[in-house]
Amino acid sequence: MVFVFAPFFVLALRAASADLVSEGKALFKKQCAVCHGSEGKGDGPAADFLFPKPRNLASKLFKLRSTPTGELPTDEDLVRTIARGMPGSAMPSFSFLSEGERKALVAYVKELAGIDEKPGKVIRVPPELAATSQTMAQGKAVYEKMGCAACHGPKGKGDGPSAATLLDSWDFPNPPNDFTRGIYKGGGSPSDLYLRFTTGMDGSPMPSFEESLTDTERWALVHYLKSLAGPKVAVQPSAGAIAAMEISGPLPKDPLDPLWNKVSETVIPLMRLWQGKKAVDEVLGKAIHNGKEIAFLLEWEDGEVNASFLRHQDFTDSAAIMFSLSPKQPLPEQPHFTMGEKGGPVNIWYWRFDRQLDLDSFQDIERVYPAMVADDYQLERTLYPKSTEKPGHLPITSAPSHDPVFLAGWGAGNILSVPQRPAAVEDLNAEGFGTLAAQPQEDQNVQGHGIYVAGKWKVLFTRGLRSEGGSDAQFERGGKFPIAFAVWDGSKGDRDGQKAVTPWYLLKL
Ligand code: HEC
Ligand code: HEC
Repeated sequence: MVFVFAPFFVLALRAASADLVSEGKALFKKQCAVCHGSEGKGDGPAADFLFPKPRNLASKLFKLRSTPTGELPTDEDLVRTIARGMPGSAMPSFSFLSEGERKALVAYVKELAGIDEKPGKVIRVPPELAATSQTMAQGKAVYEKMGCAACHGPKGKGDGPSAATLLDSWDFPNPPNDFTRGIYKGGGSPSDLYLRFTTGMDGSPMPSFEESLTDTERWALVHYLKSLAGPKVAVQPSAGAIAAMEISGPLPKDPLDPLWNKVSETVIPLMRLWQGKKAVDEVLGKAIHNGKEIAFLLEWEDGEVNASFLRHQDFTDSAAIMFSLSPKQPLPEQPHFTMGEKGGPVNIWYWRFDRQLDLDSFQDIERVYPAMVADDYQLERTLYPKSTEKPGHLPITSAPSHDPVFLAGWGAGNILSVPQRPAAVEDLNAEGFGTLAAQPQEDQNVQGHGIYVAGKWKVLFTRGLRSEGGSDAQFERGGKFPIAFAVWDGSKGDRDGQKAVTPWYLLKL
């Protein structure tokens, strides 16, 4: 009997795993290819905007393993990475997929990577030893003895003498962890940290210390590392929800309106697409509506106001909210959170501080180079008087200020070239990278205003629940709408794709 059935059994198993791989393939195409590329070579259309780069899976190098250095990760390791994402990088959390879907993805990742061999032995984490003042001192001594400080710095700030020279296996800079920030790609629990330095992080310069330490030394080191950071451990943003409370009466027009204090806030972790020095890593979101209009208040900490986008080295603080234009689809079917995709358009509300200042008076190059000499259109002087000569005119001195003939962008209908901005917020649409476009002037219907107080930005966005514009998100009471957020920190060089973002959240009215 056994002889007769065995081949069927094997065939059935193969068929099941072929199904799993093809399920994984479809999911990979939808969720992962934008970064990792359709063949998993790390060359998706988003790769240019990301640092560190999405992994070329065929390299078979994995940072997060429970197996020794040079070995392959286990399926559980990969499932965990896909579920949690990798904080401090653009590898998102896919907690909104089911466990079965994540397993299917792992099956396909292994196929793409050409992995058919078994992973190495799993390193079991022994029971944790309690932290005492003695273990803390021992941990510090181990940290110094093992040369962790050469890369991670004497106080764990990621500023050791070799820090600036470290490259990953693909020759990109690979800065060592700043332990004081609590950002760990593989999770911040004691056993996560235990595994990271025990197994090393293949593909990065982080070595394996599997051979060189005793268990007691390892736990001592873990406690010491944990003591360098506060209790906060960064997580990748993952499908969460934000509720828009209904109120009666008009919505607040001011970010400082006391009414906002009564609105519950949602803490939204952000994921940085471009790794770098400390920058915004979380935004607080509030939403309200009154059956006619909806308002959002975003609040985040920022050490410095950046108002100018005029010189090459200047970048301005900004924030954006994105809505899907196919809100009825379930989250996993939504267009990609990387600004939508072909056939899956999105509506983006984009606030920029320099554009808000333009409302008062146009920010032009004379602001930063007051002594500059510009070629004045002398002949046009009477037609285009300078602001100083005629009250009410914008102080543009370098070009005829109020004629689309001379401001060609304006002439072509580009709202960014219009000297009189309608609002501090732009109403935009996109359908994937390189497709971002402003709606026509007459469809610009989002109002907004940002205020910087006590080291924090508070930015308000308001619009009607329904709008006439064909490419606008539409809201209704009782509905659920995919929503995503982005914040740019000008002082950290954020601009364009260099920003901190979330994947889709659900807005509930
Ligand atoms: C928004 C871009 C983006 C998307 C979408 C994305 N990844 Fe990644 N992924 C990255 C980046 C960036 C890294 C490298 C992080 C690093 O090296 O620090 C990475 C790394 C990985 C790794 C290597 C983990 C390790 O241990 O080193 C795996 C496996 C992976 N991704 C699988 C996936 C799968 C499966 C999906 C889809 C479900 C996916 N990724 C979607 C950006 C992305
Ligand atoms: C040759 C340089 C170098 C040395 C020596 C080194 N590290 Fe690292 N370490 C790195 C780099 C680079 C990273 C960041 C890797 C990444 O995120 O891609 C890192 C990351 C880490 C992380 C973060 C893991 C995570 O989940 O993100 C821990 C923990 C860590 N190192 C601990 C240690 C300890 C403990 C020692 C000494 C026993 C040590 N490192 C020695 C370079 C080094």
